[in-house]
Amino acid sequence: MQQKSMNNLLDFILKRRTIRRFQQKAIPCKILKELIDAARFAPSAANLQPCEYVVVDEKPMVDRVFETLSWAGYIAPRGNPPHGETPIAYIVVLINEKRGKPGIHDAAAAIENMILLAWAHGIGSCWIGSVEREKLVEILKVPSHCRIDSVLALGYPLEIPVVEELTDSIKYWKDKDGTLHVPKRKLEDILYWQKYENKK
Ligand SMILES: Cc1cc2nc3c(=O)[nH]c(=O)nc-3n(C[C@H](O)[C@H](O)[C@H](O)COP(=O)(O)O)c2cc1C
Repeated sequence: MQQKSMNNLLDFILKRRTIRRFQQKAIPCKILKELIDAARFAPSAANLQPCEYVVVDEKPMVDRVFETLSWAGYIAPRGNPPHGETPIAYIVVLINEKRGKPGIHDAAAAIENMILLAWAHGIGSCWIGSVEREKLVEILKVPSHCRIDSVLALGYPLEIPVVEELTDSIKYWKDKDGTLHVPKRKLEDILYWQKYENKK
């Protein structure tokens, strides 16, 4: 890969943020399919490929899925998508346990692929682990050999969260204007060379 495009990729990764406020503009079906294709090509332990996906993009179903999700725990309920700014589609990530268990790393790799490709299309997302799974299994008619790993909420962004250098707390916050601030640990605080005692 060329140096310039590698710098662009790093910049792209660093600028991606979780989005929880969305425009009410449909995501083309072609893009939703592309996201699943990106997920399909993610690394997979023993290449078992246990992940399967339910795309939800029809309004009545989108509304039902929304009812099963929890948002931005540290600032609840202020971090909930406001009325009229809720996600426009969801990708529900399943692990087919007949194909591989536990599958959580596979799911994570697949989800990150989808998040980044969505971002490249100008689409924001929120990876949601806080899901009322029993309720969602009923809604989606998920068979018993499949487990819901996560839900990826999607839509064109209506907010621009900003990154902060982490000082005393990992908790994200909203300022008086409603901008979300997300603290990240410093590079030198997490990086060691050769042994855990060595910093450069
Ligand atoms: C495994 C996992 C589960 C998450 N679950 C939720 C969730 O249930 N609800 C939510 O609003 N955000 C959830 N998030 C998003 C995180 O809150 C978000 O990634 C974190 O605050 C850092 O922000 P950033 O993605 O903009 O860097 C989850 C993220 C991950 C990786």
